[in-house]
Amino acid sequence: MNYYTDIFPERPYLDGFDFNRLDRASYIIDLGALKRNIAILDSVQQRTGAKILLALKGFANYSTFPMISKCLKGCCASSPHEARLAREEFGGEVHSFAPAYSQRDMNEQLELSDHIVFNSFSQFKHYKDQVRNSPRDIEIGLRVNPLHSETEVDLYNPCAPGSRLGILPELFAGEDLSEVDGLHFHTLCQKGAAPLARTASAFEKYFGKYLDQLKWINFGGGHHITQPDYDLDLLCETISHFKNKYNVDVYLEPGEAVGVNTGSLVCEVVELVENEQEIAILDISATCHMPDVLEMPYRPDVRDADKAGIKRFTYKLGGLSCLAGDLIGDYSFDQELKVGDKVVFDDMTHYTMVKTSFFNGIGHPSIVLYNPDDDSLKTVREFGYESYKSKL
Ligand SMILES: Cc1ncc(COP(=O)(O)O)c(C=O)c1O
Repeated sequence: MNYYTDIFPERPYLDGFDFNRLDRASYIIDLGALKRNIAILDSVQQRTGAKILLALKGFANYSTFPMISKCLKGCCASSPHEARLAREEFGGEVHSFAPAYSQRDMNEQLELSDHIVFNSFSQFKHYKDQVRNSPRDIEIGLRVNPLHSETEVDLYNPCAPGSRLGILPELFAGEDLSEVDGLHFHTLCQKGAAPLARTASAFEKYFGKYLDQLKWINFGGGHHITQPDYDLDLLCETISHFKNKYNVDVYLEPGEAVGVNTGSLVCEVVELVENEQEIAILDISATCHMPDVLEMPYRPDVRDADKAGIKRFTYKLGGLSCLAGDLIGDYSFDQELKVGDKVVFDDMTHYTMVKTSFFNGIGHPSIVLYNPDDDSLKTVREFGYESYKSKL
């Protein structure tokens, strides 16, 4: 059986949606597509008993939490702010990890978290009594480095040589794990089930000997579970192997798999200029509103457009900031672009919205939810001058 066609048939998000219904630049999320992603993740929970958490660093639009929290078991947080958002808006379990905790952050985490994962034995030893003596019943984890890379780009590879993330296997020698409840690894980025299976087996080789005394393993994030070609059976086998062999709970904490293919950034052409080629200036900015495009870097899809030169009219698309490189790329369209035309950047929900800025004071796109069941739109956030000012 193919889960993606038989049980969760693919449906394009915002299909046939009239983007002229939006009167200003907006991130728009299709609730039907989000629901489908959550249903796929839930199917993994149902089949294996694994617990799936939402990684807030990748997707934190809390207006959608009431729907997501019906299925996912809680959130993974990278900071006290995320842990607090999880507590206030999501409910369920709050699992925190940071490369290092200051005493101030730890004081807050002790009031917010259910699991606290340490990145070094020295932090674990420094804080373990505070954790054990806190009024909350908090479980302690250690993040490990299984010395197995699947991610090609070092910027996204926690197992790159010299990485600061995860405790090396050799550092476990002679350490007392009696106060440790679980182990955590996060090494993947946009990966299928086979890279996870290979990583899990490297993890088992180095750390399997400690698992009998532990309660859980956390496989981190980076799993492209909701993508059509993802091998759900292999994921479920990998989870079940650890659950059955070591009698541990297994957690996963995807961010991207929740938000991927659920929404777009919709903007408008403000001006057209010419310098060696046609350039369209949009009422958004790559550096402010889609920073990954410059950081990763990658070329986002534009709806109804193609690569330069394929369709009749080619434009360089650029943003409103002072940055000369505030450019999204060259795209071709069937029709000439005019001032006021909508341009739709696809797949802009995960990681984009959590990273935006008010650089240059540029107006921030609103956040809009689209419900395909009744074709309704709901603007959940608008950002004005006060939002800009309150950051500074
Ligand atoms: C510790 C940890 N957990 C979970 C995630 C979520 O990863 P993704 O959004 O790729 O699933 C990340 C992403 O960087 C991470 O660092």
